[in-house]
Amino acid sequence: MIASASAPGRRVARLIARLTRDEKISLLHGATDPHSLGQAGYVPGVPRLGIPPLRLADGPAGVRVTRHATALPAPVLLAAAFDPDLARRYGRAIGHEGRALGQDVLLSPMVNLIRTPYAGRNFETFGEDPLLSADLVAAEIRGIQDEGLIATVKHFALNNQERDRMSVDVRIDERTLHEVELRGFEAAVAAGTGAVMGAYNKVNGVFACENATLLTDVLRRRWGFDGWVMTDWSAAHSTAAALAAGLDMEMPDGAHFGRPLAEAVAGGSVSERQLDRAVRRVLSVLDRFGLLDGTAPPRPERDAAAGAALAREVAEAGATLLRNERRTLPLTGAAARGIAVIGPTGLHPFVSGGGSAHVIPERAESPLEAIRARAGRDAEVTYALGEDVYGKPVPRGALDGDIDTEGQAVAPGETWTYRGTLTVGEADEWILLVHYSGERPKVVLDGEELFPVAAGYAEYFQGGLVTAAPDGLTVRRRTLRLARGAHRVEITARGGAGGQRFRLRRITGATRERDVAEAVRAARAATSVVLFAYEDATEGRDRTTLGLPGHQARLIEAVTEANPRTTVVLNTSSATAMPWLRGTAAVLQMYYPGQEGAAATAAVLFGDCDPGGRLTQSFPVDDDHHPVAGDPLRYPGEHGVERYSEGVHAGHRWYDAEDVRPLFPFGHGLSYTSFGYEDLRVRAAGRGLDVSFTVRNTGRRGGVEVAQVYVGPSPDLRLDQAVRVLGGYRRLTLRAGERRRVTVRVGERTLSCWDAQRHDWARGTGRRTVWTGASSRDLRLRGSVEVPA
Ligand code: BGC
Repeated sequence: MIASASAPGRRVARLIARLTRDEKISLLHGATDPHSLGQAGYVPGVPRLGIPPLRLADGPAGVRVTRHATALPAPVLLAAAFDPDLARRYGRAIGHEGRALGQDVLLSPMVNLIRTPYAGRNFETFGEDPLLSADLVAAEIRGIQDEGLIATVKHFALNNQERDRMSVDVRIDERTLHEVELRGFEAAVAAGTGAVMGAYNKVNGVFACENATLLTDVLRRRWGFDGWVMTDWSAAHSTAAALAAGLDMEMPDGAHFGRPLAEAVAGGSVSERQLDRAVRRVLSVLDRFGLLDGTAPPRPERDAAAGAALAREVAEAGATLLRNERRTLPLTGAAARGIAVIGPTGLHPFVSGGGSAHVIPERAESPLEAIRARAGRDAEVTYALGEDVYGKPVPRGALDGDIDTEGQAVAPGETWTYRGTLTVGEADEWILLVHYSGERPKVVLDGEELFPVAAGYAEYFQGGLVTAAPDGLTVRRRTLRLARGAHRVEITARGGAGGQRFRLRRITGATRERDVAEAVRAARAATSVVLFAYEDATEGRDRTTLGLPGHQARLIEAVTEANPRTTVVLNTSSATAMPWLRGTAAVLQMYYPGQEGAAATAAVLFGDCDPGGRLTQSFPVDDDHHPVAGDPLRYPGEHGVERYSEGVHAGHRWYDAEDVRPLFPFGHGLSYTSFGYEDLRVRAAGRGLDVSFTVRNTGRRGGVEVAQVYVGPSPDLRLDQAVRVLGGYRRLTLRAGERRRVTVRVGERTLSCWDAQRHDWARGTGRRTVWTGASSRDLRLRGSVEVPA
């Protein structure tokens, strides 16, 4: 019992001895916060013994509370910088702000790997590669905890998709589990994460939150984790079994760890020792953070300016230039003086993805304004919507009677009703939208309720952009085919406690045609075009196609045909299929760039900074050519079961193993300058390798290169190994003409495979090939080395 021999261990032991059973149980599950700051979770603490309440807030892209917070770029964009030091500063910014905003525990980072390009939360992850994710998660956790906020790595494990996330049973072999998904979690534990959040899904037949293999054998025995494990929100399924398996805390309530736990202890199916063990795990972390003896640093002031500066830096560092024909970017000279900005997220900034990672900042500039400001007064910058997201007013006269479709207000406590007729001139597809504050109004068309309130929770899972109008009203939409003629409409709106506002909008085939035509006219009249395309991903829902939503593909085709000097800026969550790619001049991947995304996007477009990002995931050509295509058992699962039958060939390794050409490979991203690689030397160093080479900026301007090292299989391991794995990387900023000698250390773990017979790592000795280059498919130098036993 090393822990109890130390002073902190004794302090915790003394506390446990003084806690009543009910007090112990109250520390093991969530409750309602009497002074909620809008965070996700709360544990009341035991004030009489100086155990403070805990407030637990999301999340991965900034602190999610009711108050404004810094909306940082999505983690996938951070990851694109391939820069653990930046990840540490990202963690610090969130750690600082979390403490300033009254929080004690952060429900982040998410280190599940991107396995399927459809997964709704890909933007919350660091990508598809185990090594890169492990490096970044460790750095971010150190950053968060440097500031005294307790980090929670999530979701342990294999929550790699949203589809059926509450129930899907992931079947995976031991080797794949350790070599692929678990690497990031192991790194998080080694970095000292205070807490771990169990996943919703099952792993090999057992729910993750009561899976003893994961929670005890791997997490505690193998990795030595000494913090506490909490459930994902409402992911507990049992009491005694879960506690025995290694779960310590249920969130956000006590459905299983509240009264049922008290009954289980009273009835003997849970022992007092088991209860104490869980309490000890929680209290030990609080003690480590100085929360039990008053040594925690005082809560700092929020530093919004520092948060904003970091948000900008990360967005520029991760901006990934996928294509740049004929040096279209950066925009200079005439190309910078006549610009048409097109697309909804060109006007309304796409700040943050949907679900629990959504953060609302105090301000976010419009990309159009940022481009205008940067282009200067002599430039002409026009704007066209192109693709409508929020709808246009229902024309006056289309609805009879007394209704102002653009702004109906209902006073608190009042009920407002409307009965009338909608007259449709031509049969057409209509998307009817309601924008509202307060209670959702009931809109009935020809006897059918269009926006049933029962679907309310689903709103949370609609996305970060499309569910809220620019002025903050909630948006719901419904697509209908409306025949020509009169349609009966009834609306009931209740003012509730705080009053209500709503407006009705619509998008029809005809308004869509007009939007595209206007965009084409703007494109024709301009020297260059910057077209913003979006895809609104969220927790709780997977995409069903890799194509852009709505009619954006058609818009891009029409605009690029009208003006070939078109740059497409992507505000998308992860991989997108681009059947329209060939018509474009440039494609800039900005993901969800946070509150400073507009200025960062403009800075990259005009060349004030080099696009510093590289893909941390492979972009497939289409829906039929990626690691989970064509096999429903692999994804999304059949009869509740899913098999990770790709084995260790996840992400870019799959494209190499199957010899499939991706649209853009892992590691890809262009600079505004060019780089040469020279003089590769590889030598065995300790249990790993030292890979040295020289990178030279061969262009005429300064720029950023992310040099990557890949390692081939070991001839001595009789296992199905990857064609090549990422062995290391180095982000370099080089002046024009500058050359730099770098040494990338390839660690022992990267050289090893999991030996499922021995349940341990086996180092891959023998002659191994080593490459260095600018992406997994742009390998510039090749060498080999003898890895000694
Ligand atoms: C998500 C978690 C999140 C939690 C609390 C869950 O639905 O899966 O990632 O931390 O909600 O908001």
